[in-house]
Amino acid sequence: MTTPATIEFLPARGTDLEAVEGTLVVFAAADGVLGPAASEIDEAMGGALTRAVGDDFKGKPGTARSISYPGGMAAKRVILAAIGDDPDRTAARKTGSAIAKVLAKGDVTLCPAGLADDKLVAEMLWAMILRLYDFNDFKTDDEAKDNARAVAVVTPRLAGLQKAFAPFRALAEGVFFTRDLVNKPANVLTTNSFAKELKALEKLGVEVEVLGERELKKLGARALLAVGQGSASESKIVVMKWIGSKRKQAPLALVGKGVVFDTGGISLKPAGGMEDMTMDMGGAGVVSGVMKTLALRQAKANVIGVVGLVENMPGGKAQRPGDIVESMKGDTVEVINTDAEGRLVLCDALWYTQQEFEPQGVIDLATLTGAMVIALGHHRAGYFSNDDKLAGQFGEAADLVGDDAWRMPLGKPYADQLKSRLADLKNVGGRPAGSITAAEFLHRFIQDGMPWIHIDIAGVASVSSATELAPKGATGWGVAALDQLVRTRMER
Ligand code: BES
Ligand code: ZN
Ligand code: ZN
Repeated sequence: MTTPATIEFLPARGTDLEAVEGTLVVFAAADGVLGPAASEIDEAMGGALTRAVGDDFKGKPGTARSISYPGGMAAKRVILAAIGDDPDRTAARKTGSAIAKVLAKGDVTLCPAGLADDKLVAEMLWAMILRLYDFNDFKTDDEAKDNARAVAVVTPRLAGLQKAFAPFRALAEGVFFTRDLVNKPANVLTTNSFAKELKALEKLGVEVEVLGERELKKLGARALLAVGQGSASESKIVVMKWIGSKRKQAPLALVGKGVVFDTGGISLKPAGGMEDMTMDMGGAGVVSGVMKTLALRQAKANVIGVVGLVENMPGGKAQRPGDIVESMKGDTVEVINTDAEGRLVLCDALWYTQQEFEPQGVIDLATLTGAMVIALGHHRAGYFSNDDKLAGQFGEAADLVGDDAWRMPLGKPYADQLKSRLADLKNVGGRPAGSITAAEFLHRFIQDGMPWIHIDIAGVASVSSATELAPKGATGWGVAALDQLVRTRMER
């Protein structure tokens, strides 16, 4: 398990900066004027910081410069960073990320004295901690395994900053949980071990129920079961309930695609890049991370997380192209391509969720289509909605936390691409608008009047080069956005 660094907050008075070991981070203003802590150590450093700001360090927001083995200091490194004169949340995150990027291993002490707003300092610290994520569960050499570091923040406003940072702690835990799940290979994260990891959320007060194949058969979840029938691991639906509101509040439902590995099934994927399909449970990973965050911060809201866990394998028992399956809703689906499996998992998970919990709204997340990556690349997730109010709230929440997203259209002509000669619909609608026809497939399983968002995270769940807040690999995209949505929609 990867745990976010804990931060110890220390009072500025009585802390001797020249004696701090490890890395010391101090700040300068946009015009290059040294902040209070930077001025304090500049003399001991023989004016090195003054020389840096007079030279090429212009104090541009989001910059960080590392100076090694500075004279007069116990620290091995001093980092001079800048957040800008009138920073917003974006500038704060950029600065935290820049600091993390130049940070060597070992302990770090930050001195944000002079930076006005506690909320922005907290946001900067959050970005730094997220960017420092280092997944090493499968490394065996000691150096690679050693990623423990103590983070201290020296501040004149101890209580204010501690309070501002508190909610970020729970959020970081949730994001790290998601990233760990998404980074794990499919021989380790099977449907069974995934369910076990979710069961462990009970310790935090989440109610967790695991439905196995016997229960799913009884419920008629034949579309979901058909996807997993070629696998040796049992298909499951796991329900996580967080009942944090004392009011009678219909829950918000989060539903995730949890394909622990997607070979494509009999419509086998090509070998090149197939290993990336360990991340095809990314939607379920985000739902799990949000549930963990809500429990850790004791959110005053009722939220139900539902994940469909299956493995899409070829084999003698696997479903075939041309098979017709009956979904839990009762609609029949002609399976043209067994690689379009996510929608088969979600149609039953969505139907079950609406029948069982009568939610106030449903949001599903899935690494659903390659076409989404073609449309928006790895920069933004695409979202689809039948409800402008919910979509607007989500868009604002995502903007605020920096989980970039773009609203995509729905519409009858796209739904019409799914017409089948033999069944009620088929599971693919051809190449044009592949993400939209996938969304329309899901739309058919949303009850009339139910506010719904489908978020296709195929491009953003895991990335091959580092982003602002994540190293290569799993990003945890969406955990912060959904946590924020719960705050704005349900907790006020
Ligand atoms: N899991 C994939 C989608 C995917 C692709 C996720 C790339 C992340 C990165 C999904 O199950 C799939 O295979 N979709 C097919 C659908 C097609 C057969 C209609 C696709 O996108 O090619
Ligand atoms: Zn697939
Ligand atoms: Zn898939």
